[in-house]
Amino acid sequence: SVMAELAGISDMAKALKEKLGVRDVVIVPGDSDQTFWVQRDMGRATVARLKRELSSSVHNTIAVTGGTTMASVAAMMSPDKENRPMTFVPARGGLGETLELQANTVCSRMASRAQSDYHLLHIPDMVSKETFVKMVEEPSIKNVLQMIRDASIVVHGIGEAKTMAKRRRASTELLEQLETEHAVAEAFGYYFDRDGKIVHRVKTVGLQLDDLKQVEHVIVVAGGHSKAEAINAYVKQSPDIILITDEGAATTILKG
Ligand code: F6P
Repeated sequence: SVMAELAGISDMAKALKEKLGVRDVVIVPGDSDQTFWVQRDMGRATVARLKRELSSSVHNTIAVTGGTTMASVAAMMSPDKENRPMTFVPARGGLGETLELQANTVCSRMASRAQSDYHLLHIPDMVSKETFVKMVEEPSIKNVLQMIRDASIVVHGIGEAKTMAKRRRASTELLEQLETEHAVAEAFGYYFDRDGKIVHRVKTVGLQLDDLKQVEHVIVVAGGHSKAEAINAYVKQSPDIILITDEGAATTILKG
């Protein structure tokens, strides 16, 4: 029955929270590798959880990353019934994704569906160091970078290292390096091995991994059995997170 299934899922969430040592775990039924709508359900669960963490006393600045999972979060976003002020910003500059999957795109979609404010980072991925240094000094960009640093909530995805490197058209050199160093996870522009050790990072502006420790609420959304190893590796170095995942990933992690 549906009730029995839901009870099973909440037991599973408890077990996973304990195993990973994270702040909290939410699991949606199904496996997003197999059924597309499961990713949308994770999106819906992420939106619900995000709203639980919104503050009614201070302005909520929410920094987000890109990817298909985050695009699903954006697709399920809705206005806040309590009208708490929200501003969406991209967490980091470009990471080599196509326009559809960029943090800027996800950020503007989320804001439009939430009927709230947003700011984008207009810095191209590949510019000379000289141009880059000048650009981050531009008042409009400086302003957004300050907002990003002040974010009280970060919502981000996790990917498999190899899949992400290929999707971003990484050089053969980088692909080989990731292979040699046994990279299994990617999040936030950082690549990790199975122990959660950083093996490579994409140099870009915005939040750096260390900054996450200062952020009040970090909501991580990733599912599908294929991401089990990546999730496991990532949380080893960032355990103080709220994980939104699916049954496919959860079962695989619990078995391992
Ligand atoms: O590139 C942005 C990003 O959030 C990565 O940090 C992450 O690994 C990836 O997207 C996840 O993508 P998807 O949700 O499509 O698996």
